[in-house]
Amino acid sequence: MNIEIKDLRFTYPTGLEAVSGISLTLEAGEQVAIVGQNGAGKTTLVRHFNGLLQPTSGSVKIGDWDTKKTSVAKLASRVGYVFQNPDEQLFSRDVLTEVTFGPRNLGYSKEKTDGLVERALALTELSDKTETNPYDLSPTWRKMVALASIIAMDTPIVIFDEPTTGQDAVNVARIANVIAELQKEGKTVITITHDIDFCAENFERVVALSKGQVLLDGPAREILGQEEILAQTYVEPPQLTRLGKRLRLKETVRNQEEFLNAIARRA
Ligand SMILES: Nc1ncnc2c1ncn2[C@@H]1O[C@H](COP(=O)(O)OP(=O)(O)O)[C@@H](O)[C@H]1O
Ligand SMILES: [Mg+2]
Repeated sequence: MNIEIKDLRFTYPTGLEAVSGISLTLEAGEQVAIVGQNGAGKTTLVRHFNGLLQPTSGSVKIGDWDTKKTSVAKLASRVGYVFQNPDEQLFSRDVLTEVTFGPRNLGYSKEKTDGLVERALALTELSDKTETNPYDLSPTWRKMVALASIIAMDTPIVIFDEPTTGQDAVNVARIANVIAELQKEGKTVITITHDIDFCAENFERVVALSKGQVLLDGPAREILGQEEILAQTYVEPPQLTRLGKRLRLKETVRNQEEFLNAIARRA
C-alpha cells in the first residue's frame, strides 16, 4: 500500500507554515528514514499519514484512501504511529491492557487479538511485564510499551517518531530488531530520526527535510554522502561515512561492514 503525498502544505493556527509543498511517494514495504534539523517539519508531515493533521492544501493518500475523506479511526487500521513521547500515548493501568487496546479497537477477533498481542510483547521483550503499570517502568521500557501497542495493531504501515532519542545502546539494538522484523513481514516502516548511525544501519531510503521541504531523497548510500547539502539541515553523515571520504574510498560507506569491505577491496 503506497503513501502518495501531493503538494502538501500545512499551516498551524499560529500562522507558521511547517510543511511547504511536499510531494513524495512512499512505496509499500519500503524502509524510509526521515532526517532533518529540529523544526524541519518531520513530525508535522507524518501526522498527516494517520489523519492527526489535515492538509491546509494538497493531499495525502494511504492506498486508495484520501486522508481528508477518511476518519482517524479508519486510518488506524492502515497506519500505526508511535509517538516520540510515550507519555502522550500510554493511558492504561497495565502493559497487557495497553497493548490489547489497539487490536481490540480495530474489531479483530479475540483469537487474532491474543495472537497479535503475544507477538508484539515477544518482539519488544515485554512478555514478563504484562501486569506492570507502564508508569512504574523506566522510560526505556515505556518506549517499548508504546512500540508494542502499535505493532499489535498489525498495520501495513508503521511510523516511529524519534524512537532512539534518549535510549541506551541495548534498547537501540532492541528497536533495530523490531524494525528488522517488521521489514521481514513486508511492512512499510517510516522512521524519523536524529541518530544518523541508526539511520545508516537500518534504512535503505533517506528523505532529508529542511524548512518544510524535501532537501534530498534517495538511497541512503547516495544521500549520506552529500555532506555539504545535508549540512543545510544540520545533519552530519555518519562518522564512518566521513572517515571513508577522507580516506578517499571510491564508494560512500554507511556502516562497519561496508567500510571494512571497501578497505579490503582497496588493499
Ligand atoms: N502545535 C503546534 N503549533 C504551532 N507550531 C507548531 C506546532 N507543532 C510544531 N510547530 C512548529 O512547526 C515547525 C515544524 O515542527 P515539527 O514538525 O515538530 O518539526 P520536527 O519534527 O522536524 O522537529 C516548527 O517550527 C515548530 O515549532
Ligand atoms: Mg519531531
